[in-house]
Amino acid sequence: MGTSSRRNATTAAALLLALMLSSSAARAAAADPGFSCGLSSPSRSLPFCDRSLPAAQRAADLVSRMMVAEKVSQMGDEAAGVPRLGVPPYKYWSEGLHGLAFWGHGLRFDGTVRGVTSFPQVLLTAASFDEGLWFRIGQAIAREARALYNLGQAEGLTIWSPNVNIFRDPRWGRGQETPGEDPATAGKYAVAFVRGIQGSSPAGGGGAPLQASACCKHATSYDLEDWNGVQRYNFDARVTARDLADTFNPPFRSCVVDGGATCVMCAYTAVNGVPACASSDLLTRTFRGDWGLDGYVASDCDAVAIMRDAQRYAPTPEDTVAVALKAGLDLNCGNYTQEHGMAAIRQGKMMEKDVDKALTNLFAVRMRLGHFDGDPRGSAPYGGLGAADVCTAEHKSLALEAAQDGIVLLKNDAGILPLDRSAVGSAAVIGHNANNPLVLSGNYFGPACETTTPLKGLQGYVKNVRFLAGCDSAACGFAATGQAAALARSSEFVFLFMGLSQDQEKEGLDRTSLLLPGKQQSLITAVASAAKRPVILVLLTGGPVDITFAQSNPKIGAILWAGYPGQAGGLAIARVLFGDHNPSGRLPVTWYPEDFTKVPMTDMRMRADPATGYPGRSYRFYTGKTVYKFGYGLSYSKFSRRLIAGGRNPVPNTSLLAGLPATSKDTTVSYYHVDDIGADGCEQLKFPAEVEVENHGPMYGKHSVLMFLRWPNATDGRPSSQLIGFRSQHLKAGEKANVRIDVSPCEHFSRAREDGRMVIDRGSHFLMVGRDEWEISFEA
Ligand SMILES: *[C@@H]1O[C@H](CO)[C@@H](O)[C@H](O)[C@H]1NC(C)=O
Ligand SMILES: *[C@@H]1O[C@H](CO)[C@@H](O)[C@H](O)[C@H]1NC(C)=O
Ligand SMILES: *[C@@H]1O[C@H](CO)[C@@H](O)[C@H](O)[C@H]1NC(C)=O
Repeated sequence: MGTSSRRNATTAAALLLALMLSSSAARAAAADPGFSCGLSSPSRSLPFCDRSLPAAQRAADLVSRMMVAEKVSQMGDEAAGVPRLGVPPYKYWSEGLHGLAFWGHGLRFDGTVRGVTSFPQVLLTAASFDEGLWFRIGQAIAREARALYNLGQAEGLTIWSPNVNIFRDPRWGRGQETPGEDPATAGKYAVAFVRGIQGSSPAGGGGAPLQASACCKHATSYDLEDWNGVQRYNFDARVTARDLADTFNPPFRSCVVDGGATCVMCAYTAVNGVPACASSDLLTRTFRGDWGLDGYVASDCDAVAIMRDAQRYAPTPEDTVAVALKAGLDLNCGNYTQEHGMAAIRQGKMMEKDVDKALTNLFAVRMRLGHFDGDPRGSAPYGGLGAADVCTAEHKSLALEAAQDGIVLLKNDAGILPLDRSAVGSAAVIGHNANNPLVLSGNYFGPACETTTPLKGLQGYVKNVRFLAGCDSAACGFAATGQAAALARSSEFVFLFMGLSQDQEKEGLDRTSLLLPGKQQSLITAVASAAKRPVILVLLTGGPVDITFAQSNPKIGAILWAGYPGQAGGLAIARVLFGDHNPSGRLPVTWYPEDFTKVPMTDMRMRADPATGYPGRSYRFYTGKTVYKFGYGLSYSKFSRRLIAGGRNPVPNTSLLAGLPATSKDTTVSYYHVDDIGADGCEQLKFPAEVEVENHGPMYGKHSVLMFLRWPNATDGRPSSQLIGFRSQHLKAGEKANVRIDVSPCEHFSRAREDGRMVIDRGSHFLMVGRDEWEISFEA
């Protein structure tokens, strides 16, 4: 989101509404978020107040009663009230990426509730590869939003999260907000988080009540802030149909189709010459048509204005507003559409019925949130939530669980970790990230209920701790190297908390280097060589860093990646270091060497191009050297995995393929079109794959089994491998268990042709878990 303009029309409208209500109700309305169709509402008996009607029908009724100027006043993130119909103002823009956030206009933290649960930044949570955890986080965030709403601290329940763009380039400042580089992981994250937020699955049927509304952003192919003079506002991403089909769009598709998200946000980015928010192909044909979006399409903030000002896509503001609306945009974040909408209608550039369509989508979501059912407070299912439901013991322990389960152990030479607390009498804690509560939050954060910095976390385990920041900041232009080395020399154990901050990577800011900034590397090396024992290095970063120097340095005994771990981050790190928690996180992105920065960030191609030396991107296509691979992560225990091939019946049941044509146009291999197989056929082809996972000890722990698919070879644009599913399992030392991953050939065996059509090769495919493989033939 960029910066959005504010209006004061809403305040005036709120006042008017209050005047229309009885004086006691007016006092309540002034202090609370307002609601429609209550006992004193002038519209109580109108169809849009009739709870027994479907949300879409109620919304259409309401829209039909509005005057054109009233309608236009609804088309921004701050929607005006319509007092004569008893409709209060509404603020669409709230954020809940990893906890309710300051960003946006819908939430206030200045009332009874002054703190909310701050979960780890998403990339770290993604490293848990645990859908159940992601669901519970979404659920907790929406409960806290409902509580704020009931307390009059929220003027909306539409949360513009999650961010499910593919983390395509390691330099991207917002990669930290995403579930990583893999489309399957991002899709599963989207589904779990959205279901948690919304409190209902699509199985509940269209129009089901919503705990809160979630929004999948930013569709599509957005993953660049500012590179070499190219900004997200004027970047025209050249994306192949194939990359769109199998990389950039699948997370959004899952979010809408399987998650039932009630909003999609279009990006600033232009995709192949058309700004995303002006693309009817994307907004109408794809989101609504192909995916069946039941909700609204919002623009990134001021994207419509930018379409004209930065992208010069349409000649006048009125044309721009009309182009976006006709393409299928329902809500502009900002007030550009509210400012220019009436003129656009007067000039005949858009019709009132275009506005009606958008408003019906918008109000249907507000109806599903229960905002047109009278006072929702006090009534089931969410009306009873209040201050006691924010920062609960359960939410706090969920924040700790998420941080613990995300932390990735990258190096543990000679098993230096876990430490025995009775053996650590004194320790030096060095690093700018050791005692900075703000660094725990990453971006898009709110006021945390409490925070434990790494320093505080360690002080819970070690009595005698001496702390030195070492660097002045993450930029580390100045380092107290001599002082740090002296401290290390005189301490039994040394912990370094280094890494990045929002000064290197954030919205609007991409990195230009993957190395640790400034003098960080030389400080670490000097401290390590001065220390008595190998030191422990903990990295707080969003995106990956090239720490090749530390991998090979024997004086650096252990390395942890702790992302931006949220309010309980310091406690989670300490618990991992001292063995109260066995680490199980696995990297959700490839860690590239610094050399990767010679690749233009603007080159959107996922596939490598050996002819020009272009290395490709992500574990699916990148052919160069890595610092750490996607999925990498160590444990204190030794785990093994064994694929248990299917039973007696052939899997998948491909008998239905006998009647299908297997075409062969672009390769020597013939293939089936997924569209030809059809939804029923795809259902019939599904089969389970079982994996036996065993914990050989010595510690209790969790293990995430990642299952990949590979083709006989990676020719003709096939990925070298593709994650198809994952499952995590808790096991005691010596225990084993079977986990089941459902395989859907239509989804998992398919590959994108150059034109974006999905096909399944006839013949061999290999399921892979670790080094174990199971060959599966796909032919009748
Ligand atoms: C839109 O926002 C701008 C900047 O805050 C403000 O000057 C203008 O009055 C607003 N327009 C409307 C229609 O609210
Ligand atoms: C495979 O599917 C066919 C229908 O296409 C069905 O008749 C047959 O029983 C199935 N075979 C197995 C082993 O499930
Ligand atoms: C790749 O595998 C296919 C069979 O799936 C085979 O026909 C083709 O010759 C292989 N290509 C290479 C370069 O090995």
